[in-house]
Amino acid sequence: MVKPKIAPSMLSSDFANLASEAERMLQCGADWLHMDIMDGHFVPNLTIGAPVIESLRKHTKAYLDCHLMVSNPLDYVEPLGKAGASGFTFHIEASKDNWKELVQLIKSKGMTPGVSLKPGTPIEDLYPLLEDENPVELVLVMTVEPGFGGQKFMPEMMDKVRTLRKNYPSLDIEVDGGLGPSTIDMAASAGANCIVAGSSVFGASDPAQVISLLRKSVEDSQKNN
Ligand code: DX5
Ligand code: ZN
Repeated sequence: MVKPKIAPSMLSSDFANLASEAERMLQCGADWLHMDIMDGHFVPNLTIGAPVIESLRKHTKAYLDCHLMVSNPLDYVEPLGKAGASGFTFHIEASKDNWKELVQLIKSKGMTPGVSLKPGTPIEDLYPLLEDENPVELVLVMTVEPGFGGQKFMPEMMDKVRTLRKNYPSLDIEVDGGLGPSTIDMAASAGANCIVAGSSVFGASDPAQVISLLRKSVEDSQKNN
């Protein structure tokens, strides 16, 4: 059975205190730290890149789950590998022509390859990457339009999660956008096991309680299936 992974999105943290915010989330029970890398082109927002990952890596051994919202993911593999990224999840919309090369390069740099899709992209676009002899190891289903934290969860994306879980029982399936106490049960019962949560965790008076609630929902759904 796939393990539940709760991944606070550091986009909602105080970037000026990133190392202590990361440590705080790990103390609160986080499994992964979700790092949103945006280039101001694939999405309208601009965030962090390899230099910040490299700085953070000096302060933590945690799994850094990097979500690349960039137009040229290939350009980021080498620098992020060197910086100490753990997971490298690119968008299918930005890698239609070079995903094979991308997956190979990500693995050769010791990172875990993942693929993400925007709300308007059908899951059929991912099957070649999952069926390849060198497959991606995680699928990130966006449950908001990528670019910003604090948006509203799109429940209609759960059909994608359900179909993927049915076809790939041991795949890491991650959901990202609008996840929190009021939406987690929809994602968990559809079969998601990796849960990204930004504003619901960082905005809570007791982040540890929210993280444990998210985990419990995934565990309970797994028991019932
Ligand atoms: C949005 C990012 C998310 C974002 C989630 O493009 O990929 O990781 O930080 O934030 P919340 O949980 O607030 O929707
Ligand atoms: Zn993200």
